[in-house]
Amino acid sequence: MPFYNFGVSQHFKTWVDLVIAAAGPTTPVLKGKPTVLVTVRGGYGPGTPREAWDHSTPYLRRILADVWEADLTVIERELTIAATTPGMESLRDLAAELRSRALEEADKVGAGIATA
Ligand SMILES: Cc1cc2nc3c(=O)[nH]c(=O)nc-3n(C[C@H](O)[C@H](O)[C@H](O)COP(=O)(O)O)c2cc1C
Repeated sequence: MPFYNFGVSQHFKTWVDLVIAAAGPTTPVLKGKPTVLVTVRGGYGPGTPREAWDHSTPYLRRILADVWEADLTVIERELTIAATTPGMESLRDLAAELRSRALEEADKVGAGIATA
């Protein structure tokens, strides 16, 4: 999931609205299903000065885990724009490390689901 202008992608939001319109607002359509949410963003993660500016991840958790009752794993990757954005040069090494970490985590979670 991309992070667009401090909020959730409108494409995903539209899909959520369609599912809820069809299934009802409280139907747990993913009950117990292993579900992986992979999010990317510039850098608004826990502990950063603009943590509260991430209006996407909490919403996604609300819908997937709380409303739809998915068995949810969240993989977060930050600083995705560091490699191409002027002024973020000093963050490029950290961005590369976060990318590797997210890929490793995704591999592990994916393998776990595949073998379950
Ligand atoms: C229209 C648009 C708005 C974005 N707004 C933000 C933002 O507010 N904060 C942020 O950290 N990243 C923002 N990004 C970066 C994306 O969250 C993401 O890092 C990047 O788009 C990688 O996903 P993609 O290759 O699918 O575009 C934005 C990207 C786009 C295209």
